[in-house]
Amino acid sequence: MAEIIDGRLIAKELRAAVKKQVAVLNEANVIPGLAVILVGDDPASEIYVRNKGRAAEKVGVAAQTFQYDASLSEAELIAKIEGLNADPAIDAILVQSPLPDHINEQRIQEAILPQKDVDGFHPENVGQLFADRKGFFPVANTPRGVMTMLHHEHVELSGKNAVVVGRSVLVGTPMFALLQRENATVSLLHRHTPEALRHQLLQQADLIVVAVGVPKLIQGEDIKPGAVVIDVGINRMDDGKLIGDVDFEAAEPKASLITPVPGGVGPMTIATLLETTVELAAIHHGIQLEAGWQNI
Ligand code: GUN
Repeated sequence: MAEIIDGRLIAKELRAAVKKQVAVLNEANVIPGLAVILVGDDPASEIYVRNKGRAAEKVGVAAQTFQYDASLSEAELIAKIEGLNADPAIDAILVQSPLPDHINEQRIQEAILPQKDVDGFHPENVGQLFADRKGFFPVANTPRGVMTMLHHEHVELSGKNAVVVGRSVLVGTPMFALLQRENATVSLLHRHTPEALRHQLLQQADLIVVAVGVPKLIQGEDIKPGAVVIDVGINRMDDGKLIGDVDFEAAEPKASLITPVPGGVGPMTIATLLETTVELAAIHHGIQLEAGWQNI
């Protein structure tokens, strides 16, 4: 029987820690500012963006949301980003993915000033992560949130066999870097990994992180007894139910620790976004936050 990792509770603790650091910034007359840009009317993105705005306001981050029609041109979006890059009230800029097909996502990621790149998608920040640079730079919030969960649960990573399934820029690829930086031996699996090899690697894994968007891809037989299982997938089924990329009922009896869907990794992403926003604001204003405040 696994212990269930309560992402809602950990996210709540992280938001409380963020709120305390906002107070430190406020003492220096700084209000951290987050700009969120949404292009088009994708209903899921609208909900995410609304939730980001609400969560920001609750911890004292000033959030501005800019919603544009799907017909917005790439040049217009870049002009908007450049305006925010130059705006001293804005510390963090997030452009919600996915974007309409006529907008090149990579050019948008590169238009955001690396110092305001709260998603950590700018190649300069991705490069800092893969070049194993020290000091602060923004890292994608979902994998960073997973690391916070693992630390919170005191999961030992050094010397462990970790398997990451999915190589997206948002999750899998930075997850690989973050885990190997903490001395895990990491395999990065993707759609071209032969099925037999996938099962073989999973069955040896001490830690599994899966982020592919395939319901129940990871089965009970894939779990080594005592493994830690982190499910980043959120799949809405025809009956409206949300399920993960892991067959939870089959995996739970074998794992030592497991995240549920919903209520696992999901709540961590927004809390981590606020964490990163506050860190960027502190750097922009030369303010020292309390040492180790992120260790919740
Ligand atoms: N769409 C889904 N997740 C994310 C995220 O973390 N950042 C951005 N910008 N868009 C997303």
